[in-house]
Amino acid sequence: MILPKLLFLASLVISAPLDARATTCVVSTYADFASCASSTNIHIEGPITVPANEVIDWSKLSSGTQILLSGTVTFTKGTLTESGPKLITVGGSDITFKGDSSNPGILDGQGASYWDGEGSNGGVPKPKFFRVETTGTSLFSNFKILNAPVQAFSIGGSGTTLDHITFDNSAGDALGHNTDGFDVSADSITIQNSWVHNQDDCLAVNSANTVNFLNNICIGGHGISIGSVASGAVVENVTVKNCTVQSSTFGARIKTDYEATSGSVSSITYEDITLVDISSMGIVVRQDYENGSPTGKAVSKMPITDVTMTNIHGTVTSGAYSVFILCATGECTDFNWSEINITPKDTSCSGVTPTGC
Ligand SMILES: *[C@@H]1O[C@H](CO)[C@@H](O)[C@H](O)[C@H]1NC(C)=O
Ligand SMILES: *[C@@H]1O[C@H](CO)[C@@H](O)[C@H](O)[C@H]1NC(C)=O
Ligand SMILES: *[C@@H]1O[C@H](CO)[C@@H](O)[C@H](O)[C@H]1NC(C)=O
Repeated sequence: MILPKLLFLASLVISAPLDARATTCVVSTYADFASCASSTNIHIEGPITVPANEVIDWSKLSSGTQILLSGTVTFTKGTLTESGPKLITVGGSDITFKGDSSNPGILDGQGASYWDGEGSNGGVPKPKFFRVETTGTSLFSNFKILNAPVQAFSIGGSGTTLDHITFDNSAGDALGHNTDGFDVSADSITIQNSWVHNQDDCLAVNSANTVNFLNNICIGGHGISIGSVASGAVVENVTVKNCTVQSSTFGARIKTDYEATSGSVSSITYEDITLVDISSMGIVVRQDYENGSPTGKAVSKMPITDVTMTNIHGTVTSGAYSVFILCATGECTDFNWSEINITPKDTSCSGVTPTGC
């Protein structure tokens, strides 16, 4: 009686890893993205070409799905628009989406075939790239987005970490526009150890509770931003730490809409930030945005409170502001700033004047 039981247990131990391998769904053609969508263990084996006007819709993955990306997936240029489907959408709970360290995972958006210098403002229709709408505890790591038509990551959901992501849009420096790195309207998001070279915000937090942006390098774009925060939206508890912003128009930025009548921005910390050759404003807080541009008049009723800036150092280019603040009277409070060392120093601060102004 004992022997069969032992054999049964032994067979369980032996078969478990084999079963796991057997159930891996391999994606090696575009059609396989759909046929693997309900698998919990997926291996994307590039090179794969996604045809024009087709997308990868993995918005309803099974809980706990693990995805490994090897090689390159190239998205053929089509006529999808910014408000249409993203080139890839990943949703579900407790999802892992990892690049293969021995055969780097690359998602190539063929940006050069779209870039016309107009970005979101017109010209060629351009799809957004990567929609993340995962929940639970999810992880995206170790892969590269290459040449996005416009915005790279649109992050919703909650509880997601993005780690060791490369967003290389350096080829778009002349004609790429609105190629944001990470647009966040989500809760409990961590973005870390990543490298972005783009032509708009590296990070843009539009509504969120708890975002950590750690150990990242941002080159060529518009800096690390909260906002523009629209009327009614709430952004709270954002920590940006140990990041470098280089050759960008802005460094650390908080901007809210001019017409805002409700909503708030609170508990924002920028700490240990290195700025290199910032061409417009090193640190900027302003409450006067309207349709993506400053009006010069801060009348906002969206308070910005509890803003800590600590050890923000480096350089702006000649003629740029080291610090610029434009707040409505009484709407920016508890600004606790220290160790602001941005040179050459040239400041303009109204509504609130923390250390460094
Ligand atoms: C700070 O970030 C850089 C990458 O920009 C990284 O190399 C370094 O290890 C980080 N330092 C700490 C203390 O995490
Ligand atoms: C703020 O963020 C920190 C760091 O992620 C987290 O530990 C803390 O719980 C958050 N606080 C609130 C009130 O959400
Ligand atoms: C201001 O920030 C510094 C450095 O982060 C911190 O030590 C201090 O407690 C803060 N003060 C207030 C009043 O929050």
